Amino acid sequence: MSGPNNEYDPVEVAPLQPEEIESATQAALTAIAAATDLEQLKQARLDHAGDRSALALANREIGALPPQARKEAGQRVGRARGEVNKALAARQSVLEAEHEARMLIEETVDLTLPTDRLPVGARHPLTTGSELIADIFVAMGWEVAEGPVIEAEWLNFDALNLGPDHPARTMQDTFWTDPSDNHVVLRTHTSPVQARTMLTREAPIYVVCPGRVFRTDEYDATHSPMFHQVEGLAIDEGISMAHLKGTLDTFAAQMFGAGITTRFRPSYFPFTEPSAEVDLTCFVCRGTGLKDNGADPCRTCKGEGWIEWGGCGIVNPRVLRACGVDPERYSGFAFGMGIDRTLMFRHGLEDLRTLFEGDIRFTTAFGSDL
Ligand code: PHE
Repeated sequence: MSGPNNEYDPVEVAPLQPEEIESATQAALTAIAAATDLEQLKQARLDHAGDRSALALANREIGALPPQARKEAGQRVGRARGEVNKALAARQSVLEAEHEARMLIEETVDLTLPTDRLPVGARHPLTTGSELIADIFVAMGWEVAEGPVIEAEWLNFDALNLGPDHPARTMQDTFWTDPSDNHVVLRTHTSPVQARTMLTREAPIYVVCPGRVFRTDEYDATHSPMFHQVEGLAIDEGISMAHLKGTLDTFAAQMFGAGITTRFRPSYFPFTEPSAEVDLTCFVCRGTGLKDNGADPCRTCKGEGWIEWGGCGIVNPRVLRACGVDPERYSGFAFGMGIDRTLMFRHGLEDLRTLFEGDIRFTTAFGSDL
């Protein structure tokens, strides 16, 4: 098969017969046309144009022909191979174009398609805000205490030096439960949690009590019949007003930033003596009382430089006694502020109701707030 053989009759070299070449060419063209993807075309190329293909074999036989026969046979095989290669190239470019077009379609991303992914929710600012407050106190070594929202009248009032006939009872517009001789109320403040803590634990006590409270208030931009309070209670030996002031100043600075502090104004609460209203440096004008233009009064504090934050005082010895703490040995301070109000300050909210109405768009905006 290899090497020229001059004795050889060209007619006897079967692979070079015109009909053999023709049928090999046809077989190649059929396989090429039948290839529907690049992989199949690769196989067709291997079978019909590769080293072991009929035409490659025929090509190798040319040398075996007598010189006078080589030209014609060479042309025939060359034409056939040229035809097959052309068909291969043509099919290759058709299939490549098809592949490209298919990839473009398959890999298309339709950004307008509806998604089945659930939107990521956000924790409510009241939850994160209450936790932030708790964290500030826990960092100072305090504990967090909680109690029921449906509370005994005695713990909500009497234990806190608010006897049945005490005029200050009317300061807290109370929701009573039926029948009234059950003496059960929706707690009007979180102070009963402090009473519960003193009754169940030994001094020293340092607790903060965040939670929901209820009063028969109108529902408007600054009032709600349900709102949130955080109260704090410290009972130890030698506790004074100075500890109270230092604690609240720390709380204010942690909550609103350095430079924000508190001031006390004399006030009255039955459970504390002396008592004070706590004001906070206005966080908008930072105490100047003026707008940015330096001339008009600040809208948030109405030019005062301070805003009301809550109440506080030294725990009345009568409360200590009612809750089983010896006032001869221990003294304490207590304070209470609205969490909702605090968050309104902190986030610049204009309407208290946005905190309660459950609009997901409101909550989501706080998704990354810590
Ligand atoms: N319990 C008071 C209120 O709800 C707030 C307060 C707490 C005042 C502790 C003084 C001391 O109004």
